[in-house]
Amino acid sequence: MDPIAYVNGSFVPLSEAKISILDRGFLFADGIYEVAAVLDGKLVDSASHLARLERSVGEIQLALPESIARIEELQKELIARNQLDNGMVYLQVTRGADKSRDFAFPKGDVPSTLVMFVTAKDIVNALSAKAGIGVITVPDIRWERRDIKSVALLAQVLAKQAAAAAGAGEAWMIEDGYVTEGGSSSAFILTKDDVIVTRPNSNAILPGCTRKAVVALAEERQLKVEERLFTVAEALAAKEAFITSASSFVQPVISIDGKPVGEGRPGPMAMRLREIYIEFARATAV
Ligand code: PDD
Repeated sequence: MDPIAYVNGSFVPLSEAKISILDRGFLFADGIYEVAAVLDGKLVDSASHLARLERSVGEIQLALPESIARIEELQKELIARNQLDNGMVYLQVTRGADKSRDFAFPKGDVPSTLVMFVTAKDIVNALSAKAGIGVITVPDIRWERRDIKSVALLAQVLAKQAAAAAGAGEAWMIEDGYVTEGGSSSAFILTKDDVIVTRPNSNAILPGCTRKAVVALAEERQLKVEERLFTVAEALAAKEAFITSASSFVQPVISIDGKPVGEGRPGPMAMRLREIYIEFARATAV
């Protein structure tokens, strides 16, 4: 079956889903995206993803062509039309197609482009979650507004390609000696004295929805969480490391640049937080 995509008001077969070569998302990466997980046909942590979408578009003065409530309805309809049980909904909004290729915003009434598609993935039973992943480190060469979920992802494409070429599952990006985040995930460690450490939100990282939920769930269980910077040396001396994202939930990290973290296998805290997150995701999915 040809999957169904959403393009500017219509549900169309994915193979026929097209936008203009003048689209400013294509020409300038002048756009915002979101990725939300789907569990048993329902959207995971949807309010959090939609709030971030609203914030991201606001930060670049981009108008959404539909209300947030309508966007969630469209996502649900797309899931239903694709009969998607488990995976992700990808959503992208751009500043539309304008023939001038003017760097400044188009003048007049150029409608935003809104597209969505789904990807099937059994996130709960992913083998990499049971085995853990290796990460490599790369310099963080991105721009200074990483808090905006921009489609300008070339730095992450290169970082994740380097990881893939090295047989690793993610790249941790390093700035001024500290880990910022993964190419498409938030980075965590568990120190020797059982403190969960993750970098605080700022313009240096994307405010991960999964990160936010995991921090809250951990604190509710009286687990100690510190939001502060950490180095690769500290991560290598840690008991555990893990990443969080909509497309992986919580995933243990077992090595950094080929050196083992802790015992070099998935740690109990990462696996516990993964279970806790999946329980939360199921209980609150819409
Ligand atoms: N990436 N940091 C970066 C740079 C990301 O791209 C992502 C998500 C995260 C985690 O955010 P969240 O928990 O809200 O998914 C952190 C998505 C999954 C992607 O680009 O596919």
